[in-house]
Amino acid sequence: MKVPFFDLKAQYASLRQEVLAALDCAGAKASFIQGEDVDAFEQEFAAYCGVKHCVALNSGTSALHLALLAAGVKAGDEVITTPNSFIATAEAISYTGAKPVFVDIDPRTANIDPTKIPAAVTERTRVILPVHLYGLPAEMDRILKIATQHGVAVIEDACQAHGARYRGARVGGIGQSAAFSFYPSKNLGAYGEGGAITTNSAAIAAQARALRSHGESRRYFHDSIGFNYRMSGFQGAILRLKLQRLDEWNARRRELREIYRRHLAGTRVDFQDPGAAGERVDHLFVVYVADRDAVRAKLEHRGVGTGVHYPLPIHLQKPYQSLGYRQGDFPHTERACERVISMPLYPEMTEEQAAYAAGTLREIVGERG
Ligand SMILES: Cc1ncc(COP(=O)(O)O)c(C=O)c1O
Repeated sequence: MKVPFFDLKAQYASLRQEVLAALDCAGAKASFIQGEDVDAFEQEFAAYCGVKHCVALNSGTSALHLALLAAGVKAGDEVITTPNSFIATAEAISYTGAKPVFVDIDPRTANIDPTKIPAAVTERTRVILPVHLYGLPAEMDRILKIATQHGVAVIEDACQAHGARYRGARVGGIGQSAAFSFYPSKNLGAYGEGGAITTNSAAIAAQARALRSHGESRRYFHDSIGFNYRMSGFQGAILRLKLQRLDEWNARRRELREIYRRHLAGTRVDFQDPGAAGERVDHLFVVYVADRDAVRAKLEHRGVGTGVHYPLPIHLQKPYQSLGYRQGDFPHTERACERVISMPLYPEMTEEQAAYAAGTLREIVGERG
């Protein structure tokens, strides 16, 4: 049996008629940049997340960048985040001229360890930027408490967590603002690049709206040096259509995760702990194993595609070597990066495929001794 790591063609096939109709309708409006569908998507996604404002953008990286700028982050400031993320989390901090300050993860959750944050706070800290990694919300209560004590803002990197909840509230409205990515393989994915900021602050939303379009206040009048971070009209149309299916797709991902969990109980794999306060979504289903590369090669040989998110922590990536971090600085993150495997997980996967992928992994790693 073949189980690809993900299969965007299967999703397209299941939506083809609706997608073609939505694109035809959007094309007829000729609003190729922003426009009616993007405006409507902003309202619908804000309502979905339970926030007052959504500002649609051209990527999650842009969303992080503008969320940080709107929080007043500038050169000389520091932003605390996790080294166990996609590099864009740190890049967005660097774009502002601020310095990323990394804090190790809690090995159970793979998210930033709140107990280690206070020691990283300095008088230059402006923002704490937790990532809801693989769809599991970070420990927001403790993070918000630390932020309040030190008078700094919290921005959520929710790029992998569309629809996840923390103590009943959707992520996206817990911090001052949040960044989402609509990269095609995300739980809510565009057919190209896309992203958004969500926030309850009218001032932050207004600033992000101006910055995404060259700092323009009215046509050809510019109040600041902004960016071209606008969302295309076609992506708005696609995202509106796909948002209607997000809960159903997230529920399906949960069912598939449970199949994995059942088949892998008692084996030599470790899991990302779901935590007590969060109702996670399953962006990725990751396991931690010894001898990761050999396990992956065996899975591949038996038709099971996998990914690695991420093979090298951000503090050890080339562009961040200048910050002076060394191997051994964040042992839990480094160990996670050595052992992590992302198994196939997407709504169009069949139960048989999930059982086959899990059963194959079970055979490869063996029972716990
Ligand atoms: C945790 C995280 N942050 C930021 C990003 C950046 O999003 P994008 O690829 O849409 O720029 C991604 C997605 O790729 C991500 O997974």
